[in-house]
Amino acid sequence: MNSNYKSAILGIGMAVPSKVLTNFDLEKMVETSDKWITERTGIKERRILEDGENISKYAIKASIEALERANVSPKELNLIICATVTPDYLIPSLSILVQEGIEAVNAGAFDLFATCSGFIYGLAVADQFIRNNPDWKILVIGAEALSRKTNWKDRTICVLLGDGAGAVVVGKSPQSENRGILDFFLGADGSRWPLLTLKGGGSCYAPFDKRLPEEEYYIKMQGREVFKVATRMMEKIALELLKRNGLTNEDIKLLVPHQANLRIIEYLRERLNLPKNKVYVNIHKYGNTSAASIPLALYEAEKEGKLKEGDLVLLVAFGGGFTFGGALLRW
Ligand code: UT7
Repeated sequence: MNSNYKSAILGIGMAVPSKVLTNFDLEKMVETSDKWITERTGIKERRILEDGENISKYAIKASIEALERANVSPKELNLIICATVTPDYLIPSLSILVQEGIEAVNAGAFDLFATCSGFIYGLAVADQFIRNNPDWKILVIGAEALSRKTNWKDRTICVLLGDGAGAVVVGKSPQSENRGILDFFLGADGSRWPLLTLKGGGSCYAPFDKRLPEEEYYIKMQGREVFKVATRMMEKIALELLKRNGLTNEDIKLLVPHQANLRIIEYLRERLNLPKNKVYVNIHKYGNTSAASIPLALYEAEKEGKLKEGDLVLLVAFGGGFTFGGALLRW
């Protein structure tokens, strides 16, 4: 083992469905309004898979872009980790469909199920592999088809969710540069799992089990309660990562939080005493895309010139389970 090696993001890609569902479209579907959704969540629109489309298409597209930008060929990949709770199928996994789609003939592949924190968990797993196998190249994907698990009659959830995919290639950080993944925080708290669930279709209640009401085959959330825990945990993770690395809020160039609610992001920004231009937000365009949310935000931040080589970036996520996580990296 050579733990002197740091891992780094070598390339990033993203892909979202072209179908846009606006707040005004939702007004025609449930008792809601653009005003309510905008004020309570910050969301204006989200991307949704067309009927007959699968999220694997977008996971593959995002992966190809990430590989091209990293200048890594699919054959060089050793591992594909796909963070998702909405794979095309249960068998095969989404990562296997990507493995086939990009012809990564030398790679192992598995899905990682950690809800909205999945991408950070995936980065943490990739980092461990790179530290032990510095020549490995690993594709970490966050991809979700949440629209397929959305109850379009439930206004408390259907206004929040969207679909999309982001991918990064992780490899050894170039020795000459001070770039890479510096630290992680991973956590979980199962004590309040009933606050955010998707019960139907697992091994407890198989598909079409008559004992379970139909609404349980979709994502359900007690939003207000989840909100309280999310704000507390995200602040705690951010402060813990800064403290144990001897850093302060002044050192952060960009905070890239999970995009679940603009009010949660604003709360975090204020608690960390960061100016608006140091917190990346794209929730208005995509809604909450769970494991895809952070890679979509990272991608767009970079495209907009908000991430420069050497910048200190803080990622923080929180999701159902609960799971939570953070990562500190030098871009
Ligand atoms: O990504 C995983 C983690 N997820 C999160 O972190 C999400 C956390 N939660 C939230 O973001 C927010 O709690 C929500 C956006 C889900 C809800 O916002 P809220 O300010 O907490 O609203 P609420 O649930 O307290 O509901 C306020 C009112 C209720 O009406 P009454 O009881 O006050 O008459 C709801 O019935 O708003 C009503 N409401 C709506 N009204 C219009 C709930 N959903 C809607 C809607 N349109 N879509």
